[in-house]
Amino acid sequence: MQRKLAAGNWKMNGTRASLAELEKIAASRKAPAIDVLLCLPATLLSSASALLAESHLMIGAQDCHAEPSGAFTGDLGAPMLADAGATAVILGHSERRAAYGETSDAVRDKARAAHAAGLTALICLGETLAEREAQRALDIITEQLETSLPDTATPETTVIAYEPVWAIGTGLTADPDQIAEVHGHLRRLLTRRFGTEQGPAFRLLYGGSVKPDNAAAIFAVPDVDGALVGGASLTAAAFLPIVTALEDSR
Ligand code: PGA
Repeated sequence: MQRKLAAGNWKMNGTRASLAELEKIAASRKAPAIDVLLCLPATLLSSASALLAESHLMIGAQDCHAEPSGAFTGDLGAPMLADAGATAVILGHSERRAAYGETSDAVRDKARAAHAAGLTALICLGETLAEREAQRALDIITEQLETSLPDTATPETTVIAYEPVWAIGTGLTADPDQIAEVHGHLRRLLTRRFGTEQGPAFRLLYGGSVKPDNAAAIFAVPDVDGALVGGASLTAAAFLPIVTALEDSR
């Protein structure tokens, strides 16, 4: 059984002053029974990893290039993120799929690069509201899962986050039946591709307006192994109750 995972996504937020929140999160638990990961802006990775060297808290990045290094002005390669202290990287977040036209093919190449650098790839997928209303959610998710996962994916190197686009940053969350339907579907697809030992071992996170007051209901849904939390991961006050809810759901 894999440990459950509470992951935060700070997006384009945070300066060194925000490291105080990380310290509070780290100080709240000595040896939690779940994994806790915060994906920070790349500018904070080195200082955060120095600060958290003795702590259980893991840090990650939010994107990487598919090449390890080279003439790619403004980009960051996976080995650079690992060198700065990241152990994981978010890939294929809907904000990047929408704003930069990132395709599932590109996400797969980035995930392969992340794996080569020893990083866990936290691969995001999810449908838009228009796709859901057109009854296409499961088709979209199937395509995204099948294309975005490289053959280097294993339950140890890869985590999947289902994030319905319409629920991100909107205060709307998918209801438990919707989450159960998608997570069950993802589980079947993973088991078909990776077999009955590995398929069930992949961690499936839900993301999209996860907050202290809805976390317990979301964690009670079958096949939800944790959360990817945006806004509510920015402060210890909002994030720690979500960590507690996940611990209590075990
Ligand atoms: P949110 O973001 O929790 O602020 O909705 C989730 C995400 O984008 O990962």
